[in-house]
Amino acid sequence: VQSTLSITVVGASGDLAKKKIFPALFALYYEDCLPENFMIFGYARSKLTDEELRNMISGTLTCRIDKRENCEDKMEQFLKRCFYHSGQYNSEENFAELDMKLKEKEGGKLSNRLFYLSIPPNIFVDVVRCASLKASSANGWTRVIVEKPFGRDSESSAELTRSLKQYLTEDQIFRIDHYLGKELVENLSVLRFSNLVFEPLWSRNYIRNVQLIFSEDFGTEGRGGYFDHYGIIRDIMQNHLLQILALFAMETPVSLDAEDIRNEKVKVLRSMRPLQLEDVIVGQYKGHSKGGKTYQGYTDDTTVPNNSLTPTFAAAALFINNARWDGVPFLMKAGKALHTKRAEIRVQFRHVPGNLFKRNFGTDLDKATNELVLRVQPDEAIYLKINNKVPGLGMRLDRSDLNLLYRARYPREIPDAYERLLLDAIAGERRLFIRSDELDAAWSLFTPLLKDLEDKKIAPELYPYGSRGPVGAHYLAAKYNVRWGDLSGEES
Ligand code: BG6
Repeated sequence: VQSTLSITVVGASGDLAKKKIFPALFALYYEDCLPENFMIFGYARSKLTDEELRNMISGTLTCRIDKRENCEDKMEQFLKRCFYHSGQYNSEENFAELDMKLKEKEGGKLSNRLFYLSIPPNIFVDVVRCASLKASSANGWTRVIVEKPFGRDSESSAELTRSLKQYLTEDQIFRIDHYLGKELVENLSVLRFSNLVFEPLWSRNYIRNVQLIFSEDFGTEGRGGYFDHYGIIRDIMQNHLLQILALFAMETPVSLDAEDIRNEKVKVLRSMRPLQLEDVIVGQYKGHSKGGKTYQGYTDDTTVPNNSLTPTFAAAALFINNARWDGVPFLMKAGKALHTKRAEIRVQFRHVPGNLFKRNFGTDLDKATNELVLRVQPDEAIYLKINNKVPGLGMRLDRSDLNLLYRARYPREIPDAYERLLLDAIAGERRLFIRSDELDAAWSLFTPLLKDLEDKKIAPELYPYGSRGPVGAHYLAAKYNVRWGDLSGEES
């Protein structure tokens, strides 16, 4: 039987839809990854015609640099498959109308329906209720993709899960963490489990500390209203960085099946000790003038209260209480309005016991340890810092990088995370989506800390826009004998 696939983007005029979802769908279409009979529906409150939606989307589509052929034609064909339905987010009637339109285009074929909720969290449940009651597929599958925030703490997250499960089974819910769709994050497991040289070192025996670093060189720009309610710990750490940590530290899964991988992730999350105040420092950016330009501080944003204590920066030390990782600090650092934009995983190895070349390194032996860096973005790379001899007659040592620089090795463009995730959701592959018990475990680690920060009204340390962040991050690291690798001045 021929089947049809419809993808309904709920909240079609929003930022995420325009910036990420429609472009990703087009890229999939361009790469021939969408089934033959597919259609895309935009759903939102504003009254738009199909044509107006197409105009709106067309401005967001781009072609890969290395694939410009027929791009215009492809765009036109793609846009012809895009339609719009205007409706309220809590109206079963409006979703029933959508259902009629979908049915008409499905023409009685087996129909699969994917809903992408690109909307604020306060209306998640309404939309899920209306969509599942009135616009579910009658003969194929119905799946719903949701984006964070999944609540603000354990309780509200559990409540959200409960509400969603009134209308959907766990199998139908695809919770996105777009960091899991990033190329280097996907590659983490390949690196670990398909190279003999890494996995044996992957433990407290050889690894001194692991650093998960996220920094952005811009502030909350227009998102202050959302951000102030969440803060950087909920925005980046509890999800993106913690997901990377789980993949990094999990035991070898039984297989590559989604359930096997997610079981291991849950296990490692549950082996961690919930964060306490003394494991964390928080910061907030303040206005700064540089080179004749003035950058606004966080609270200068009109949508942010003047006395806001919401952190825009945080550093934290986490520990995993299991045989593999006992005592190894996992340091996280995440911040907005810093001096650079990057996301990376840094693994610092132990000193070489009885190092024969000790005296060649001077006093700072830390500088001689190996470090493995996975640069998630920008300019994807995996490099290993090693010691080698400077060629010549003397015995002088040097540090070099064994460097897999993606743009040199693979000059083609790397697909956006959303492309992979959409493709997986369509295929029913759940490996890169967050299971509800995983989400619970993630919240359990951060909820006590978040409550404490709020109850005790902990004031963030201010740092200038565009700086390297609050010095508190160094003290925190120093407490665990760690030096942040990204500040060592060595760039690769
Ligand atoms: C989102 C956060 O999840 O990730 C944003 O809400 C952040 O605050 C964004 O800017 C970063 O994603 P990326 O893919 O641009 O690194």
